[in-house]
Amino acid sequence: MLILGIESSCDETGVALVELDAHPEPQPVLPRLLSHALYSQIAMHQAYGGVVPELASRDHIRRVIPLAREVMAEAQKSLQDIDVVAYTRGPGLAGALLVGAGVACALGAALQKPVLGVHHLEGHLLSPFLSADPPEFPFVALLVSGGHTQLMRVDGVGRYELLGETIDDAAGEAFDKSAKLMGLGYPGGPALSKLAEQGDPAAFKLPRPLLHNGNLDFSFAGLKTAVMTQAKKLGDDLEARKADLAASTEAAIVDVLLKKSLTALRETGLKRLVVAGGVGANRHLREQLNAACKRQGVRVHYPELHLCTDNGAMIAMAAAMRLQSGSGGQAQALHHYGFDIRPRWPLAELG
Ligand code: KG4
Ligand code: ZN
Repeated sequence: MLILGIESSCDETGVALVELDAHPEPQPVLPRLLSHALYSQIAMHQAYGGVVPELASRDHIRRVIPLAREVMAEAQKSLQDIDVVAYTRGPGLAGALLVGAGVACALGAALQKPVLGVHHLEGHLLSPFLSADPPEFPFVALLVSGGHTQLMRVDGVGRYELLGETIDDAAGEAFDKSAKLMGLGYPGGPALSKLAEQGDPAAFKLPRPLLHNGNLDFSFAGLKTAVMTQAKKLGDDLEARKADLAASTEAAIVDVLLKKSLTALRETGLKRLVVAGGVGANRHLREQLNAACKRQGVRVHYPELHLCTDNGAMIAMAAAMRLQSGSGGQAQALHHYGFDIRPRWPLAELG
């Protein structure tokens, strides 16, 4: 079974083809990625210091068909070979989501093939199954993207229990907003992290919000305020101390993500951790998690680095795993082309 996946929830247009073995013997085999193509709008949004939703939608319109042609050609398949068209139904920017949903439903209707709306975070969550070292269920998942920071207990496809989440800013937002304060541009995470390499993580004492409150929730809004206060205090010295401030900010974010993940592992008794979402590309976070998990006998799984941020492969993969698991209402691709989107859509609502 051939599944075309389309991602257009934010500032990346991604299209991919995944193949699912319909009757695997004797054991279920993971779906295989045949091809994927990505266009990042980062350069376009950089001039504005962040994503401009209307520009994002217009650019998705420009990119999605050429990218689809590219993945079909690379996999040497024709449109008639497609069995299911999957698209990101939410959460994300409404206009941007409508582009992927519209194209997917139009294609499905034209080919008379079913369509399947996928949850963007489920895409991130299942993206490590595309790696050379895929996890096994059950596991604890640390989902850290630009808009979400969540710890989940994952017992299978569609079996997600929210353990804790941010009560204000996401970890990615903390990176982005702190980077903006330091004049590092957009997206802030990679820029801040690069600068942090030359700095001293202990140079500034920044807060670790909710670190010792006993539950698995996060809060990063106070950290951003602390970075702003510190930057103001430094005044003219900011330029010279920027790397130290970047390193201290990164250390504070990583510290909280690390400690809360370890608590989630301890509380659930699980010995497997999956890290997904854009912030999962952070080198410092990976190093700290790897070291701590090794000490505790916990296996850590990540998506391939280039599949940490948004892409079509994770959407096609999530659709394929949904179809393979056959679980719940989200596991059916339908011949319904009245496309809908869900800009706000809690992952725990999936069943
Ligand atoms: O998952 P993603 O591509 O998009 C959303 O679904 O939100 O995540 C984007 C976020 C941005 O906040 C970006 O700054 C952050 O991931 N990010 C990083 C790194 N690469 C991307 N944060 C820290 N270090 C990185 N290397
Ligand atoms: Zn994402």
